[in-house]
Amino acid sequence: MKYSRITGTGSYLPEKVLNNYDLEKMVDTSHEWIVERTGIEKRHIAEEGQSTSDLAEIAAKNAMEMAGKTADDIDLVIVATTTPDLIFPSTACLLQKKLGITNSATAFDIQAVCTGFVYALGIADKFIKSSTHKCALVVGAETLSNILDWTDRSTCILFADGAGAVVLEESDEPGILSTHLHADGKYDELLRTKGGLSKNKELLDSGGAFVEMRGNEVFRVAVNTLGRIVDETLEANNMKKSDVDWLVPHQANIRIINATAKKLKISTDRVVVTVHEHGNTSAASVPLALDAAVRDGRIKRGETILLEAFGGGFTWGSALLKY
Ligand code: COA
Repeated sequence: MKYSRITGTGSYLPEKVLNNYDLEKMVDTSHEWIVERTGIEKRHIAEEGQSTSDLAEIAAKNAMEMAGKTADDIDLVIVATTTPDLIFPSTACLLQKKLGITNSATAFDIQAVCTGFVYALGIADKFIKSSTHKCALVVGAETLSNILDWTDRSTCILFADGAGAVVLEESDEPGILSTHLHADGKYDELLRTKGGLSKNKELLDSGGAFVEMRGNEVFRVAVNTLGRIVDETLEANNMKKSDVDWLVPHQANIRIINATAKKLKISTDRVVVTVHEHGNTSAASVPLALDAAVRDGRIKRGETILLEAFGGGFTWGSALLKY
C-alpha cells in the first residue's frame, strides 16, 4: 500500500499589516466589533507589485527546505488560488519558473476558493497513490486584497493575503488517510464576485468585481456543513472523535471554528487557531495554520490531524492524516 505523506510545511505573510484600528479609519467599524464577531485582530496585505506567485514562492521554499527537497525533486506543482497572477499562464507555472523547477514537472492551478488547498491536497494524494508522481508541492496562495471593496465593512474586515505550502511525498508509512471533497453550486449567490471574464466583464474592467457575501447565511451553512464533514471523515476511517489529536480548520471566523470544535467535542486547546493573526486568507488559511502549529512544536510526528475547509461555490472538504 502506497501513501502520500507531508514531509515539509511552509508559509508566508506579507510584511504590511492592517490592524482593526487602521480599519476604523477606513469604514464604520470598531476593533471590539471585529474581534467579538470574527476573532480577527489584524491582517497582512501584499505590497503594490507583490503577486500571488511571489507569496507562494516564499511559502514553497520554506516547505521545501523543511522537507530537504530541491527543485529537481519536485514532479508536481499544484497552486490553489482564486486570485491568480494572470488569466494564464497558471500561477503554478509561474511558481515553477520562480523555483527553477526545470524537470518538466506537472503544474496547474485549481480553484475552489477557501477549500482550494484541501482540494489540491486531495488531488496530489491521488496522483501520488496512483504512482504517476512521487513528490508534490501543494500550495494555497491569495492576494484577496485585490478583490475587496475597501468601503464595504461587511467584507473588507474579513479577508486578506498570504500563502501556505506543503511538500507531499510517496511513502510506505501512513500519511494522508483520506480526503473528502464536495461542492454544491446552488449556493453561488451567497458568496461570490459578480464580475468575470465572460460574464459582467464591465464590472471587472471598472474595478468593481469585488467579493460580495450574505454573511449570516454563509455562517449558518458553514457550521452545519463542517459538522457533517467531520462525521463523514471519521466514519470513513472507522475512527472516533477522540482519535483526532489536532483539528486544523479553515481560518475564517473564530465563531465558526468554535462551533465546529464543539460539534467534534474536541477541546479548543486541540484546535489550531491563527485567524486572529491574518484573517481569512482563503486557500492559504489551512496550510498557514498547519505550518504555524508544526513549527511551534504543537503538532508532532505520528499524530492524527484533521484538516477541514469551507468556501465559495459552496465547496467544502476535509483531509485526515497521520503527520
Ligand atoms: N462593523 C460594525 N458593524 C458591522 C460590520 C462591521 N464591520 N459589518 C456589519 N455590521 C453591522 C450590520 O450592518 C448589522 O447592523 P444592523 O443590525 O444595524 O443592521 C449588524 O452589524 C449585524 O450584522 P450581521 O451581518 O447580522 O452580523 P453577524 O453577527 O452575522 O456578523 C459576519 C457578520 C460577517 C462577521 C458573520 O456573518 C460571519 O462571520 N459570516 C461568515 C463569513 C465567512 O466566514 N465567510 C467566509 C466563509 S469561507
